Amino acid sequence: MIGQQSQTLWARAQAAIAGGVNSPARSFRPMGGDAPVFVQSARGGRFIDADGRSYIEFLAAFGPNIIGHGHPHVLAALERQLRDGLLFGTPCAAEVEFAERLLAAIPEMEQVRLVSSGTEAVMSAIRLARAATGRRLIVKFDGNYHGHADAVLVRTGSGAATAGGGGDSGGVPDGVRQDSRSLPYNDLAALAELIAREGNEIAAVLIEPISGNMGVVLPEPGYLEGVSRLAHACGALVIDDEVILGFRLRYGIIGPAIGLSPDIVCLGKAIGGGLALGAYGARRELMRLIAPLGPMFQAGTLAGNPLSVSAGIASLEVLSGPGVYDLLEERGARLASGVLAAGLRHGQSISLQRVGSMFTLFFRTAPPTNYEQAKAHDGAAFRRFFWEMLQRGIYLAPSPYEAWFVTLGHAEDEISQAISAADEAFAALAQGAAHNAGA
Ligand SMILES: Cc1ncc(COP(=O)(O)O)c(C=O)c1O
Repeated sequence: MIGQQSQTLWARAQAAIAGGVNSPARSFRPMGGDAPVFVQSARGGRFIDADGRSYIEFLAAFGPNIIGHGHPHVLAALERQLRDGLLFGTPCAAEVEFAERLLAAIPEMEQVRLVSSGTEAVMSAIRLARAATGRRLIVKFDGNYHGHADAVLVRTGSGAATAGGGGDSGGVPDGVRQDSRSLPYNDLAALAELIAREGNEIAAVLIEPISGNMGVVLPEPGYLEGVSRLAHACGALVIDDEVILGFRLRYGIIGPAIGLSPDIVCLGKAIGGGLALGAYGARRELMRLIAPLGPMFQAGTLAGNPLSVSAGIASLEVLSGPGVYDLLEERGARLASGVLAAGLRHGQSISLQRVGSMFTLFFRTAPPTNYEQAKAHDGAAFRRFFWEMLQRGIYLAPSPYEAWFVTLGHAEDEISQAISAADEAFAALAQGAAHNAGA
């Protein structure tokens, strides 16, 4: 199923790159595979692989791609910037314009700092919270993923969960681990109990207000209000990690609309139009603590680089257009309901959780509300479904803990084709199950 060119590239990749991939979430090993698909080019909602095969893809680069590959507005902005220069190491107007656009969309941020990835945004937000409070502890939630900084590699979701090891990482010193706490998501009592014990040492409570890294898992009613109230009552700051959610679900962030009261907001993925760009921001009194004005150091040679911010501005321009999020909602709803209905028609034990243009199909009868539940799924069925879809030209993330992302680049008929492919894939799963039962 994996073409010859991809196989050949895989042999070279394995020799040259650790594990053959530059990020573990790209590996097909958790799917029982070997060589992954090597992509040659991408347009709209499609990949063309190194062997010339075309796929409708819902990976969206794990979230950044929201307007579709090769959008002419972004390409034009990049071409202009290419001519003007790639990197200056001293400020340029585009950085300011991009920052102003973020602030205009997110009232919770009075100032922002641009960085190059979601990991850097969260890592810096944690440092800022510690600098502001003078405290050491960071509280996160099991199955949330916040990038690969040491402090957050504790019972984390996404690639770390897929790769095994329970979402922990080797190489994180005990001292660092001792300064992090990870609690069950959607469990206010657990947070209240921790705060009763250690509340005066907690610098920040860090949360994905809708989790996208143990599959899409929604906060229960009142949960985010409770998290904010408990955190603030003990003097901790709330860090809203919207690296996936920001500008994916609406133009801006979603946390405050669903009950969270953030002090620091982290962004990444969709804001960069596919280039390396992250950001963290807060009210002015907190941002004043960052060097060169304040004692908290954070820097970056590539931070806010001209190419990334040019792509970011162009991308935000597209996203601020009329009806964009309604269209994403419609397409997300149609794909999700079509896929779910197909699976149920073929007697599959599945459920689905969706928010706007992102959803996860769970191979369990009820959608999970926390990481323990998310882990209790039929992994073998997911793997079979993944391969059946790939064979039919539909590229999904090679993990049961990721979301399907719909983009503006997906044409209506591509959504229909994906639903038909899912119908066939589920039929194959059902036949396989009947075959096994008969054998
Ligand atoms: C919620 C969340 N925060 C942070 C990150 C880290 O972002 P990056 O991979 O750009 O470092 C991710 C990446 O998947 C994420 O999903």
